[in-house]
Amino acid sequence: MYKGSRQNTKVTVAIAGFGFMGRTHYGNWKKLRGAKVVAICDSNLAQLKNKVKGNVGDADGSTDFSGIEVYSDFDEMLAKCGCDIVDVTLPTPLHPRMVEAALASGRHVICEKPMAIDARTCDAMLVAVGRAKGKFMVAQCLRFQAEHVYVKRLIDSGRYGSVVSADFARVSMTPGWGAGGGKSWFLDEGKSGGVALDLHIHDTDLVNWWFGRPESLTSRERRRADGVGMHIATSYAYPDKVVNAVGSWVDAPSFVFEASFRVVFERAVVVCDTCRTPSFVVYPAKGKPFTPKFRNADGYFNELKAFLEWTRSPSAESPFDAHAARDSVAIVDAERESAKTGRTVVPSKRNSHLRS
Ligand SMILES: NC(=O)c1ccc[n+]([C@@H]2O[C@H](COP(=O)([O-])OP(=O)(O)OC[C@H]3O[C@@H](n4cnc5c(N)ncnc54)[C@H](O)[C@@H]3O)[C@@H](O)[C@H]2O)c1
Repeated sequence: MYKGSRQNTKVTVAIAGFGFMGRTHYGNWKKLRGAKVVAICDSNLAQLKNKVKGNVGDADGSTDFSGIEVYSDFDEMLAKCGCDIVDVTLPTPLHPRMVEAALASGRHVICEKPMAIDARTCDAMLVAVGRAKGKFMVAQCLRFQAEHVYVKRLIDSGRYGSVVSADFARVSMTPGWGAGGGKSWFLDEGKSGGVALDLHIHDTDLVNWWFGRPESLTSRERRRADGVGMHIATSYAYPDKVVNAVGSWVDAPSFVFEASFRVVFERAVVVCDTCRTPSFVVYPAKGKPFTPKFRNADGYFNELKAFLEWTRSPSAESPFDAHAARDSVAIVDAERESAKTGRTVVPSKRNSHLRS
């Protein structure tokens, strides 16, 4: 493991990409007592002090960089910076190269979702992950959000019986933010994968986590004239339940963001909706509706905490297996193919040599 930074007991972190997610991660690393951000890299140094926009609000522009090394070149940062963890919060097309370089340098690496632009690219990354001494995790934040962990436990325990149906919706204003000069990189289908890979993958991953890989799926989409996928609706085929999800980028600046799901069990309904108060309610077949008390609910904080603890423990158990992150990208690949061809598609399985 990397030995460059053992001046103190804190695990040291370098953040690559200081846009919306880089700042969100920075704010959460600061809350973790066992970690210290020692370096930041962004190719656009001019915007480091600005406020940046994102789909769930604005990110802070008031970072105090004292005591932090600032780089504009990723490879220079890797070569010079004494850090244990590299946190990759760069635009999606840069994930493979930066993750592989950081792993090759001996660091632990956490990388924002989606892992890569398609499952084939994820498979190549997994070969590098398999060779690496450091640990690797994709920051799929909803897996660490308390409400979602609660639903996963309800499903696994069978407390309210089996799941009969589930519906998901995720709607955000169209990204006008993000790096890329005149045109945000989000609005380049080849870079972001459009709404399906960038936004809707959050729900695809919940479907994959809670119910496993669907037998097949059918998607419909709506694209802009320039080819960017803006709306997607998918029906996932399971033998025993009905599962649907929609994702949209919308042009109504006053709307901002909405995420919701409804899971119907044999003996309860669970509703989560960012536009309702309370946002999470369990409606059991017997008894009154209730909202569980969640401590430390935030997925962004919890994912970094889980990763930090994993890097410090000899345990081989990953908080979120990278192969599962790859599988969610493979399901989105199938959704994009189904939407394009109008056919029902079976998501690709893991390559057998990569199976964990
Ligand atoms: N988990 C979530 O809820 C969530 C939300 C938004 C975005 N994301 C993901 O996070 C990643 C980053 O998204 P974002 O919204 O922060 O994008 P962004 O455009 O706001 O930030 C990217 C930053 O990377 C910098 N950059 C670009 N090329 C670089 C290079 N070669 N070297 C160094 N810096 C470089 C840019 O200057 C910019 O500051 C994407 O993969 C996106 O899908 C996740």
